[in-house]
Amino acid sequence: MTVRFDLSGKVAIVTGGGRGIGRAIALGLAKAGAAVVVASRSADQINAVADEIRANGARALPLVTDLTDGAQLERLAAETVQQFGRIDILVNNAARSFMRSLMDLREDGWDKVFDTNVKAVWLLSRAVARQMMAQKSGRIINITTVGAEKAELGMAAYGCSKAALKMLTRCMAREWAAFGIQVNAVGPGLTRTDFSKPIWSNPDIEKHVTAMLPMGRIGEPEEIVPAVLFLASEAASYMTGHTIYVDGGALTT
Ligand SMILES: NC(=O)c1ccc[n+]([C@@H]2O[C@H](COP(=O)([O-])OP(=O)(O)OC[C@H]3O[C@@H](n4cnc5c(N)ncnc54)[C@H](OP(=O)(O)O)[C@@H]3O)[C@@H](O)[C@H]2O)c1
Repeated sequence: MTVRFDLSGKVAIVTGGGRGIGRAIALGLAKAGAAVVVASRSADQINAVADEIRANGARALPLVTDLTDGAQLERLAAETVQQFGRIDILVNNAARSFMRSLMDLREDGWDKVFDTNVKAVWLLSRAVARQMMAQKSGRIINITTVGAEKAELGMAAYGCSKAALKMLTRCMAREWAAFGIQVNAVGPGLTRTDFSKPIWSNPDIEKHVTAMLPMGRIGEPEEIVPAVLFLASEAASYMTGHTIYVDGGALTT
């Protein structure tokens, strides 16, 4: 069974791989044997993750990329192929969010959230899928959220963007299955990263929030990784178009 989770010889791209859940995924894929391209706008963060991967004996390439720039998305796919010869796994992890009520949310705020969380995923996946189609194989894993299923106060733009990403996952899965590309998603619940810092950095707010979670605690970034490894591996050979939630039971409430 261990062999089925082995990613030796595979090449992966992780967006937003410099910190939080993306960093944990990049390190996890490398530990499973993959060469990993780590992309985000913060050079210092992706350099540090690439150094950590190389120190553990795997190959890594940090590529500074702004996902809202279409030309940079094409370059990310092209440079990965140039450096490593193929792309087997794409993890669309990067995202942004604002906490604003629908009455206060600005139009450009809505657009920024959708540009990063939906449009960039479509454009990068399409650029990468051209290579995967030539290989006749590939795995795309989109990171969504429990907020794609539950309406959270002040999180409308984010929740709607992730609900759209869930449908984009299904659409890509349907259109690209014939080309050997499998597309699935992982939806974390509340996880301890910079993204959720306003919650866990305040003990009163954390206590209030975790009291509503069946497992009574916030998740750690490393707890999201096994679901991604499963979807990237041979073990998920007959699975496409689905979302796995890793949420401490949040969606049971
Ligand atoms: N933390 C949670 O509670 C939670 C819960 C459910 C789902 N999620 C999902 O998990 C994923 C990772 O979240 P996280 O908590 O790890 O967030 P995080 O710590 O804020 O990291 C977000 C990452 O996305 C990158 N990013 C954002 N905009 C970008 C852009 N335009 N171009 C390139 N990179 C960009 C950031 O890098 P730069 O800013 O350096 O570019 C950063 O590396 C997201 O999809 C999020 O929706 C998180």
